[in-house]
Amino acid sequence: TPVDPAQFDIEAIDLSDRDFWAEPPAVRHAVFDKLRAERPFAFFDEPTMEGMEPGPGYWAVTRLADLDAISSQPAVFCSGQGAVSIQDIPADLSEFYGSMISMDDPRHARIRRIVAKTFTPRMLEQVIDSVVGIVDDVLAEARAKAEAGDGSLDVVADIAAPIPLRIICDMMGVPEQDRLLVLNASNTILSGGDPELTDEADPLTALLEAGMAMAELMGRLAAERIENPTDDLTTALVNSEVEGEKLTHQEIASFFILLLVAGNETTRTAIAQGLLALSENPEQRAAWMADPSMDKSAVEEIVRYVSPVTWMRRTATQDGEVNGHSFKEGDKFLLFYNAANRDPEAFENPHALDLGRSPNNHVGFGGHGPHFCLGAHLARRELAVTFRRLFEICPDLEITGEPARLRSSFVNGLKRLPARLTGQR
Ligand code: HEM
Repeated sequence: TPVDPAQFDIEAIDLSDRDFWAEPPAVRHAVFDKLRAERPFAFFDEPTMEGMEPGPGYWAVTRLADLDAISSQPAVFCSGQGAVSIQDIPADLSEFYGSMISMDDPRHARIRRIVAKTFTPRMLEQVIDSVVGIVDDVLAEARAKAEAGDGSLDVVADIAAPIPLRIICDMMGVPEQDRLLVLNASNTILSGGDPELTDEADPLTALLEAGMAMAELMGRLAAERIENPTDDLTTALVNSEVEGEKLTHQEIASFFILLLVAGNETTRTAIAQGLLALSENPEQRAAWMADPSMDKSAVEEIVRYVSPVTWMRRTATQDGEVNGHSFKEGDKFLLFYNAANRDPEAFENPHALDLGRSPNNHVGFGGHGPHFCLGAHLARRELAVTFRRLFEICPDLEITGEPARLRSSFVNGLKRLPARLTGQR
């Protein structure tokens, strides 16, 4: 049920209040509607976090045109002072905050080039058969598990999580026995802030341990690849040179962690939240099931509607003005993709799921600019195959209860989504 934005007092809105991120989606969207309409650059103090210095606060950007203006001027609005943390990056966390997502050109471009080729549509043609194979395996396993019991399953654990995890682990060359570690560590890294997954008294320790476990895994795999190179991405990382120099251990570790985490949590969210949205819009689900030519537009719409990544940060490198808003050097901006993706200036009927939506110039994979999602082509492929095969292998999937939503300002994740296979095909 929609919530009326008029019921909120603009002065009382606080995006840094953790409880805000536990509110139902309709409430959050209504608050963003209010901000976008009345205060498109709204200033907030940072949330306080044990063990971290509070920083200077940030401007919340909620209109699509403003977000895109900022993303497309990377020299004025840089990523190098941290894109994925509200706080400035503490040096001891740079192992997973120091990747290319938090770098500026020219170094960013040089590092990105090392793996960019692997993620082009042409190269992805070579992995598409294995994507289909993984999706089919996961769905067959989910079906067998449900049928061995009373038909029930958890969409997140049984379908949405294993598909992208297996795909990116295959690409990186992470062996079977280490994948649970990758899953748990990336949960900890991205889901920090949810009371079920974080020790609220000491949020940093778990984060550090997860980063260290991933770096240790990378060290082991890297040593093996130096001995015995393969065609996986880990081999590409250990053998690559930027300006005649090999990457340092730390650079490889942060790169490795970025690819594993970014390649896995985001797509999982799109699958799980996408299935939830389809169950809330059964007529659209039926139309999509019946018409494979809708795959492309439907996948884009799911990414827009779900917005798996909620925001990224930029820092002003100089004083200036953007779309009428004056700012100072050092000012921080959080680009709220979820809000921009519901901007009525950019999308007709923005809160409706419309799987045939066209045009659909959403910013779910980022705005225009050098940091546009490296994995966008891969993610689109994964999502199209997953939904199409789901319609074929599990057409009887039915959501049976409320989702357990992650309490996070950063990712729009689900922890659990109960479902069952009715057996009626
Ligand atoms: C960057 C979203 C899937 C790898 C980004 C950014 C967004 C995003 C919003 C922009 C960062 C910025 O502007 O600062 C998503 C969504 C996905 C997804 C919604 C799934 C539906 C993937 C996959 C990979 C991936 C499958 C595979 C490895 C990356 C990397 C970057 C990135 C490496 C950093 C690019 C750079 O800094 O140049 N993603 N992503 N993503 N994404 Fe994705």
